[in-house]
Amino acid sequence: MNRKFTLARRPETLPGPEHFSVVEEELPALAEGHVRLRLAMAAVSPWQAQRCKDFSNYVEPFAIGELISCDMLGQVVESRAAGWAEGDFAMGRLGWQEYADATPAALTRVDPALSMSTWLTALSSPGLSAWFGFADHARPMPGETCVITSAAGALGSFAVQIAKAGGMRVIGIAGGEAKCQFVTETLGADACLDYRLPDFEGHLRAAAPAGVHVFYDTVGGLTADAVFANMAKYGRIVLVGRSDANNSADPGADFANMRMVWARECTVETFSMYSLLPERRATGRARMAALVRSGAVRPQVSIVEGFEHTPQALHDVLAGKLLGKALVRYWQPDAISP
Ligand SMILES: NC(=O)c1ccc[n+]([C@@H]2O[C@H](COP(=O)([O-])OP(=O)(O)OC[C@H]3O[C@@H](n4cnc5c(N)ncnc54)[C@H](OP(=O)(O)O)[C@@H]3O)[C@@H](O)[C@H]2O)c1
Repeated sequence: MNRKFTLARRPETLPGPEHFSVVEEELPALAEGHVRLRLAMAAVSPWQAQRCKDFSNYVEPFAIGELISCDMLGQVVESRAAGWAEGDFAMGRLGWQEYADATPAALTRVDPALSMSTWLTALSSPGLSAWFGFADHARPMPGETCVITSAAGALGSFAVQIAKAGGMRVIGIAGGEAKCQFVTETLGADACLDYRLPDFEGHLRAAAPAGVHVFYDTVGGLTADAVFANMAKYGRIVLVGRSDANNSADPGADFANMRMVWARECTVETFSMYSLLPERRATGRARMAALVRSGAVRPQVSIVEGFEHTPQALHDVLAGKLLGKALVRYWQPDAISP
C-alpha cells in the first residue's frame, strides 16, 4: 500500500493539516523502464504553499485532489530500469508519499557518502539558489556590506555562509531574538536585525552606515523597502523570493520603494532555479559539495519525524518556527546518514 497527501482545499493564508487529505492506494505492478523508491526524506518548501493557493507566479497552482509535489530522497526497492538496482539512492520531485515509481530521467542519483540532509539542502534548491545568487548575480567583493533576509531559513542560512566565505560583511535579517542569535553565532554573520523591531530601518542604517552593497532578498514587502532605502551607490539587488506577499491573504499586493534604488543607480536582478540548465546545476552541486566537505558551509536543518507530520511541517516553515531547512524523515535507511 502507498499513502500520499493530496490538496483537499485551498488556504487563505498559511496551509495546515486541515488543507490536505491522506489517500491510501495499492501499488500497481512496476512498469518496464521504471524504478520504485521507498521515500525516506521530504524537503518541505514555501513554494508548495504558494501552489496551494490559486494565484500565478512561475508555477501553476495544485489542483484539488492533486499529489503535493516535493523534492524527496529515497531508496530503490525494485528496479525494471537498466543501470539501477535495489538499494540505490536517488532524489527527485516525487511528492509527499511513501513510495514513488519514476523513470531514471526524473531522478538524480545520490551518493550515500554524503548525508540525506546534504543532498536535500546544499545540493538541491536552497544551496544552489544561494550559490548561483552570489556567483551569477550578487558577485561578492571582500569588505562590501551584504544584507540577507530570512537569514535563519533554508536559502538564507546558505547565503550567509557563502557571503562570509566571499569576504563580505554580512547583516542578516530574521524574525526574533533566537533566530538572530543563530544567524550570528552559528552561521557567522557580523550582525542580525529583527525586522519586527520598532524603527527597524533606524537599526539597519546604524548597522550599515556606508550603505548596502548587496541585498539578497527572499521576502519583499516593507522589510525589503527599508533595505531599498539604504542601498549604497551602484548596489546590487538580487530578488530571490516574495515570502511576505506570498504568505498574505493578498499575494498580488507587494511594496517597492524604488526611489533610492533609482537615485543610487542600483541594479535589480532576478533568477529562478527552474531556468538552470542541467550542466550548470551539476557545476553548482560540485561547488557546494566542495564547500561542505571543506567545512566552509554547514547545512542547517530541522528534522521532523513521520509522514503524518508533513503538512504541519509546511505550516511551521511558513510561520517561521523552524531553523534552516525543514526536512521530514519518513524512515531511516541503514546505508546513508540522516
Ligand atoms: N528564485 C529561486 O530560484 C528560489 C528558489 C528557492 C526558493 N525561493 C524563494 O525564496 C524564499 C525563501 O525560501 P526558503 O525555502 O529559504 O524558505 P525559508 O526562508 O526557510 O522559510 C520561510 C521564512 O520566511 C520568513 N517569513 C515568513 N513570512 C514572512 C514575512 N511576512 N516577512 C518576512 N519574513 C517572513 C520566516 O522567517 P522569519 O522567522 O525570519 O520571519 C520563515 O522562516 C521563498 O519565497 C521561496 O519561494 C526562490
